[in-house]
Amino acid sequence: MALNLDYLDLYLIHWPNPVKLRDRWAETNAASWLAMEEAVESGKIRAIGVSNFRKNHFDELFKTAVIKPAVNQIFINPSDLQPKVTNYNKSHGILTEAYSPLGTGNLFNIPELKQLAAEYNRSIAQIALKWSLQHGFLPLPKSIHRDRIATNIKLFDFEISKKDMETIDSLEGRAGLAQDPDQRNL
Ligand SMILES: NC(=O)c1ccc[n+]([C@@H]2O[C@H](COP(=O)([O-])OP(=O)(O)OC[C@H]3O[C@@H](n4cnc5c(N)ncnc54)[C@H](OP(=O)(O)O)[C@@H]3O)[C@@H](O)[C@H]2O)c1
Repeated sequence: MALNLDYLDLYLIHWPNPVKLRDRWAETNAASWLAMEEAVESGKIRAIGVSNFRKNHFDELFKTAVIKPAVNQIFINPSDLQPKVTNYNKSHGILTEAYSPLGTGNLFNIPELKQLAAEYNRSIAQIALKWSLQHGFLPLPKSIHRDRIATNIKLFDFEISKKDMETIDSLEGRAGLAQDPDQRNL
């Protein structure tokens, strides 16, 4: 393998409908998925999944897929819960992996989160990541700082109350919204 690894834990289709393939996205995803299934069968990849998929993309994929996607990695943070997509994932046994769980840094100026972080004696990042876990998502935060990476995984010795979860749920639109994969110029 060119990556110089024996196997990959997880491999994803990044975008269901990129501009270059917009006239043939469903066939392209089907062909990619078949190749990914073969890589699973040969032991090169442990699990395969998708990213930024919505129901219409899954409907097409499921016409030919043999292996069900393990995860759907989507934009999820208190600013956008994407309930239609997460409910779809849940009802099909697909794990919702939350990318940009800190709103690409845009959550840090939200007063309600600052207030909760002070009350729980945690960082805003820890509050946002714990909120994600309590919703049943798998948050995927990014940091280039060793100390932040270390504190971003210290999430298992506290619990956010139901009332405070609801407060965080109400922050829709405050740090951006997910983009429509069929419209975005990507
Ligand atoms: N599948 C997709 O289409 C897609 C799209 C976008 C992103 N992603 C993936 O999702 C992951 C994360 O998304 P993201 O980079 O957009 O945003 P993010 O994880 O929501 O936020 C990253 C920002 O938060 C800062 N940060 C992290 N921990 C912090 C802490 N404890 N205190 C203060 N600041 C903190 C980082 O700064 P420092 O680095 O300076 O700490 C960085 O500026 C990445 O791995 C990315 O590849 C996937």
